[in-house]
Order: sequence, then C-alpha cells, then structure tokens
Amino acid sequence: MRRRIFKWTGIILLSIVALFAAGYGIIAININNRSAKFYRFERKILDIKQDSLTLSKGKHLVAIKGCQDCHGKDLAGKIMINDGAVGRISATNLTKGKGGLPIDYNDQDWITALRHGVDRNGRPLILMPSHETTLLSEHDMAAIIAYCKNIPAVTNELPPIELGPVANVMSFFDKMPLLSVEKIDHAKPMIIQADTVVGVKQGEYLAVSCSGCHRADFKGGDPLAPGLPPVPDITSGGNLGKWTQQQFLQTLRTGKTPAGHQMSNADMPWQMTAQYSDDELVSLYEFFQSKI
Ligand code: HEC
Ligand code: HEC
Repeated sequence: MRRRIFKWTGIILLSIVALFAAGYGIIAININNRSAKFYRFERKILDIKQDSLTLSKGKHLVAIKGCQDCHGKDLAGKIMINDGAVGRISATNLTKGKGGLPIDYNDQDWITALRHGVDRNGRPLILMPSHETTLLSEHDMAAIIAYCKNIPAVTNELPPIELGPVANVMSFFDKMPLLSVEKIDHAKPMIIQADTVVGVKQGEYLAVSCSGCHRADFKGGDPLAPGLPPVPDITSGGNLGKWTQQQFLQTLRTGKTPAGHQMSNADMPWQMTAQYSDDELVSLYEFFQSKI
C-alpha cells in the first residue's frame, strides 16, 4: 500500500517536473527566436556636429542617461550580470579600442542602435534601453553620438551575451526589457529639439529615464527583481507630494530622503540623478508634482 502511494507521488512529481521542463523549453525557444530575428529600418540622417558646445552637451547627457552605469565609467564596456540563473550580459565596449566598436562603425550605426534597438546588421540589442533613447530629441541624440565618437580608445574584450533561465522567463512574461526593438514605435518621427524652458514639459521629456523603474505612470510598483526594494510612487500622490523643491533636489543629489533613509545607488541610481543640472531637477520636480 505504502509502496503504491510512493509510486504514485513519484509519478505525479515527475510529471510536474516534465511539464515545467516542457514549458521552459517553449519559453527558451521563443526568446531565442525573437533575439535571433533580423530587422531592417529606413535610414535616418542626423547632423552630427563636433563643436565644443555639442561635445559638452553630449558628455552631460551620457552622465544623466546612465550610459556609464552599464557601459562603465570610460564607456569601455563591462559585464553587467554574470550568474547561472540570469546569464551573462555584457554591455558593449563603445570605444574604438580592442574589443570595442569596429573601426568603420559610423554615424548611421550609432543612430540605428539608439533609435531602433538593433545593431548595424539588424540584430536586436539585448537589454540596451533603446526604447528610451529612441525618445531623445534629434539634437540630444546627435550630441551623445558626437561625444561617444571622441572618447579615448580602451582595450576591453568582453565575452558574448548568454541568457540564463531567469532572463528568458522574465522576458517572456515582459518583466525584463530584454528586446527593446519590440517596444519601439519605429514609425514615430523623432522630435527635433526638447523644450529648453524650465517647467513641466522639460520635466516630462527628462522623466523618460525614470520610467523604466518607476513605471510609465511613475506610480512605482513591485521590486524590479527579487531581493530589491519596492519602487516608490514619485507622483504627487507619493511622498514627493509633501516635499519642497529643495528636499527633492537634496534627495536626488545625495540619495538621502527627507525621512532620513539613505538609498543605495544600486537600487536607485542617485549618482546619476546627482549629475542633473539644477534647472533639470526643478523641471522634474514640477513635472512629478503635476502628476496625480
Ligand atoms: C541598462 C543598461 C544599459 C544602458 C543604461 C545603456 N546601455 Fe547601451 N547597451 C547595453 C547592452 C547590454 C548592450 C549590448 C547589446 C547586445 O550586444 O546585444 C548595449 C549596446 C549598445 C550599443 C550597440 C553597439 C552595437 O553593437 O552596435 C550602443 C551604440 C550603445 N549601447 C550605446 C549606449 C548609450 C549611448 C547609452 C546611454 C544613452 C547606453 N548605451 C545605455 C546596455 C545598456
Ligand atoms: C534602476 C531603477 C531606477 C531608476 C532608473 C530611477 N529610480 Fe528612483 N528609485 C528606484 C528605487 C528602487 C527606489 C527605492 C529605493 C529605496 O527604497 O531605497 C527609488 C526611489 C526614488 C525616490 C525616493 C522616493 C521616496 O518616496 O522616498 C525618488 C524621489 C526617485 N527615486 C526619483 C527618481 C527619478 C526622478 C528618476 C529619473 C531621473 C529615478 N528615480 C530613476 C529605482 C529607480
């Protein structure tokens, strides 16, 4: 009798495992096919000037858009994640050093990556937030490219990307922005220039960089990955609604909230937000205060 129960529980357990394995197999094949797909987009021409004003603007944008968080301080690339569950994800060495971008990587290739989320051959870029960079104005994108083209060459050869089961499953359920190419409205025309006046409009443009974590409505939500803190509501409905402009600036510059909580840069990238100008932070403040 006992034996028989064991036998049946064994069979049921095995069937469950087999079912999960089959389910995972389908997910892995799905993500693999989607990342192996090739795309073709119409060429977009941008006037990429190399004057000092454009270059310093590009430098500032690279700092506040978090390019260095993933591609490293000197943009020479780095292994962002390396574990058995998530996989190994390297962010490209963006310099022309060994292991970096090909010598003939041109303006068009830069635009294709930032606007469409694919490389020069039409292969989808993995985990590169092109669904955010595609919303940059033409002026800003041109400034970023101008700056990046002039950074010193650094030798850094990185291992290729290999996706693990957690990355596959999270992407399948749209919990991880793995394939930005699929999230972009490729027909949407780029705006020429963003609002330069301090205020809600400028804040809305800048807030694209916060939407990846704080969500599209900025109301926050579940932690981005197990073990991380939940993401707070940063509209006027959250704590921010009670903060003065000065307290908001202080929080984004030091990572310390008015309540005295020191945020970790790994959870909330305040070392990036610290580099926004006063005007930019004031615009962000006004924008979030205007959101309910
Ligand atoms: C969340 C991390 C992350 C951020 C932030 C990020 N990147 Fe990337 N980027 C990646 C990864 C990962 C890849 C490699 C994708 C691949 O090879 O599939 C990549 C690839 C690229 C490529 C494509 C190179 C090629 O093969 O054609 C360019 C260009 C690029 N990034 C520029 C930028 C710039 C400029 C910024 C800032 C505006 C930026 N990235 C911000 C993660 C990031
Ligand atoms: C990589 C994900 C990520 C990005 C990008 C990000 N945040 Fe955050 N943010 C978080 C997390 C997670 C917390 C909560 C940290 C904690 O509890 O320690 C947080 C906390 C905050 C807080 C504190 C809110 C409170 O109620 O205490 C503010 C303000 C904030 N973020 C503003 C911004 C702004 C503005 C941007 C864009 C310029 C931004 N964040 C971009 C993840 C992010």
